[in-house]
Amino acid sequence: MAYRTHSCGVLAASDTGKTVTLSGWVHSRRDHGGVLFIDLRDREGIVQIVANPELGEVYKIAETLRLEYVIKVQGTVRKRPEGTVNPHLSTGEIEVAASSIEILNTSQVLPFEISQFSEASEEVRLNYRFLDLRRPPLQRNLILRHKIAASVRDTLNKDGFLEIETPMLTKSTPEGARDFLVPSRLNPGSFYALPQSPQLFKQILMVGGLEKYYQIVRCFRDEDLRSDRQPEFTQIDLEMSFVDEQDVMNVTEHIIAAAFKAAIGKDLTLPFPRMTYKDAMEKYGSDKPDLRFGLEFIDLSAELANCGFQVFSGAIKDKGVVKAICLPGGAATARAEIDRLTEFVKKMGAKGLAWIKFTDAGPESAITKFFSKEDLDAIAKKTGAKSGDLLLFGAGSWKSVVNILGSLRLELAKRNNLLPKEQVFKFTWVVDFPLLEWDEKDKRWNAMHHPFTSPNAESLPTFEANPGQARARAYDIVLNGTELGGGSIRIHRKDVQEKVFTVLGISSEAAKEKFGFLLSALEFGAPPHGGIALGLDRFVALLLGEDSIRDTIAFPKTQKGTDLLSGAPSPVPQKQLDEIYIKTNLPKKPETPA
Ligand code: AMO
Ligand code: AMP
Repeated sequence: MAYRTHSCGVLAASDTGKTVTLSGWVHSRRDHGGVLFIDLRDREGIVQIVANPELGEVYKIAETLRLEYVIKVQGTVRKRPEGTVNPHLSTGEIEVAASSIEILNTSQVLPFEISQFSEASEEVRLNYRFLDLRRPPLQRNLILRHKIAASVRDTLNKDGFLEIETPMLTKSTPEGARDFLVPSRLNPGSFYALPQSPQLFKQILMVGGLEKYYQIVRCFRDEDLRSDRQPEFTQIDLEMSFVDEQDVMNVTEHIIAAAFKAAIGKDLTLPFPRMTYKDAMEKYGSDKPDLRFGLEFIDLSAELANCGFQVFSGAIKDKGVVKAICLPGGAATARAEIDRLTEFVKKMGAKGLAWIKFTDAGPESAITKFFSKEDLDAIAKKTGAKSGDLLLFGAGSWKSVVNILGSLRLELAKRNNLLPKEQVFKFTWVVDFPLLEWDEKDKRWNAMHHPFTSPNAESLPTFEANPGQARARAYDIVLNGTELGGGSIRIHRKDVQEKVFTVLGISSEAAKEKFGFLLSALEFGAPPHGGIALGLDRFVALLLGEDSIRDTIAFPKTQKGTDLLSGAPSPVPQKQLDEIYIKTNLPKKPETPA
């Protein structure tokens, strides 16, 4: 072995006396009155190298070492002297007395420190991603990502799933985002779309009799980016034949539990709790409720239908609702803070934010005068508000109230530090989704999940006449307020699929043009089937408690969709565009004043 007999990070007291060869990067270099201490780093960790002036030539080489030089060291492992043991280092009990040092490569002066404490901006870090990747936190994230992916494969392989690749150059699949298009040189004027997901192909695999499919697969969506969204991201995608919701949910829970165990040794309690979409919206104002804290909404519509406060009784008369959030201990909230919260909800379209403080002297607020004693008693009883608590109210249409209070709930948790300090994992399934949602702007029905999701048994005969009431056989898995994955039992009969397209306003010609291959497959003995896709990037980020999925991806893109390392996307010469029959039509740049 020319370069190494051991990794730096694995050496321990039990190696004392051994002659070793190590290769790695110079992590630090300290001069202690003639003796040089070098921290040598490789992927497994750091070990201290000692070079004494008595070494002559070797010492001279050691003196020329700078940060991130790549070196090969030979030496003997020895115990550190009494009092110099470093308890923060796995190799802290030992050091390696160098007998030879070879410089394999040098390094420029670094733009930032290779350390978990580096304060470099994300832009600089992404520009020099090769240095950023050397930092221990990123290495830890990528190692964990690998462990999760390996565990997922292991679980599914044992369960009889086949890993099957699906095309990247394909036709558009409707997952609700814009497509990335790829021009076809051999078919002038025609374009492939990069897959937003393998949805249609995995369904075709079921029609093809493969029964259990999975793939850890890249998906592409041209959408506005956020901390939990990338234009290319990875799904743990699976599909099964002859299954119902419960079967898919069981497999999903097992994948997740096994991955948690493999990656961080944590045991999760199965099965995960389940909540209907309706309950999630009624209580948390979100279809991805964060269950790490309380602040559930309390509905007061029945109690306050005839109260004297016009804002509330009027809203209920208009078929709306009144809901409240009780902030325990919130009575101490300053007026200025309540004003800030009021501004927050007003930005979301609320007319105001009524509130009542409960004190030892009774309920206090500018609006208490509008309520009878019975009203106030009913409010206290239903909400359970005690002296010291603050009630915040939303009144208006159901949709606006749950949306506004949903955002307010998250804001209150943030501003009052209600998230637990230690890492907790609050999973929930959300089930019983509506099949369709009304698009007010375009005046049409859209699929809430995707157009291949089956209506439930009850809605099957009625969904055309009553689209708004129809429920889907869809399920989402939610972790700590983030949608980790979603899936459904699919439509496997052509007549049902065609009816759903009709309700969605997709003409039969358009359906044939876009999804003809699926419709055709459904005519030839398509089995009942269903599946799910989990976002791997989000999975890793949530497991690690990282705020952004960018820190779980080796080469992520910025908010503007650029790869700072390679400089993509970038213009290409016209010659290259000519070959694919493309002419650009850029907006004119405003003229620069002379
Ligand atoms: P869906 O569109 O819900 O379902 O995607 C599944 C999961 O993929 C993750 N995800 C993303 N992660 C990072 N960046 C993005 N831009 C991004 N978009 C989605 C989320 C999400 O829950 N074909 C269906 C699945 C099915 O029905 O089986 C689908 O793609 O974690
Ligand atoms: P007003 O009668 O408009 O002065 O409002 C009295 C209180 O009710 C104020 O605190 C308002 O912020 C609040 N308020 C007004 N409209 C609503 C609403 N739709 N939901 C909740 N509170 C409201």
